[in-house]
Amino acid sequence: MNPVQFNRKDLITLEELSPEEIGLILDTADSFKEISERPIKKVPALRGVTVANLFFEPSTRTRISFELAEKRLSADTVSFSTSTSSVVKGETLRDTAQNIQAMKVDVVVLRHSSSGAHRFLSRFLEASIINAGDGQHEHPTQALLDMMTLRQRLGSLEGKKITIIGDIMHSRVARSNIWGLTKMGAKVTVCGPPTMMPTEIEKLGVGGVNVELDIRKAVAEADAINILRIQLERQKLHLFPSLQEYFEVFGVRPDVLDYAPPHCIVMHPGPMNRGVEIDQDVADGERAVILRQVTNGVAVRMAVLFLIAGGKVEDSSIQ
Ligand code: CP
Repeated sequence: MNPVQFNRKDLITLEELSPEEIGLILDTADSFKEISERPIKKVPALRGVTVANLFFEPSTRTRISFELAEKRLSADTVSFSTSTSSVVKGETLRDTAQNIQAMKVDVVVLRHSSSGAHRFLSRFLEASIINAGDGQHEHPTQALLDMMTLRQRLGSLEGKKITIIGDIMHSRVARSNIWGLTKMGAKVTVCGPPTMMPTEIEKLGVGGVNVELDIRKAVAEADAINILRIQLERQKLHLFPSLQEYFEVFGVRPDVLDYAPPHCIVMHPGPMNRGVEIDQDVADGERAVILRQVTNGVAVRMAVLFLIAGGKVEDSSIQ
């Protein structure tokens, strides 16, 4: 049993978590995974806890897996979309959140396009805040489910070589992965067009990351590659000439994977642009663990909700 305690009110970044706290979340997620395999996928761990899911940006995986995680832990849940809320009448984020707080919500799961929205709200809300993605900043539960998947396939993260390929500059998934992986002792390489590489990226994380612009070299020693979505609107900013040329230079195709070790696995946080950052045959190929990542997302979000709400893994309510 992991002796570490999780004493945080909020989960906003992986940058601020210790390796021990990350390990506790991953160990807890491992123990929760089995609940989703049961005929009756429900335990009473969060009975009486109310969770509001506030999604100010579109989401499929994160939103559904948070909702499933809450229901499997028996929490009471409400979900909110911008288009059907009073945000369309001009209500601010702070007012929206404070009104939800006034209805005695315990945990707020928030996705927002503004980096830092969660930190801002945490100053006003008594409820716990879980970051479901903030702008280009962090997406901690995505990186946690990526690490859970890596541990299942590779064992410990210590010393493993993980290559992240794509639009590093605009990616909250890349930032959270870099913080989480380097804290857990993995070695991270980033690869993508120079126009999509943030300045001083080599200093990010614990001990920094390697930068490699040649995709064949970037995958040559990788235990896993994590492929980022190209946000199609970026093409209008002339960060790359065309989708076809992006695919030819940075797309992960079977001929690129020929340069990777035979055991190297392929990850993608979704949603995928097939034929842009990832080839159809790679997305559906034997190395891909993309749907396993989605399955693990439910267990990771159950773990985060449970620990934020003050639970301990030996708690009888999860048996
Ligand atoms: N990976 C991810 O965050 O997907 P969604 O945008 O569908 O939630």
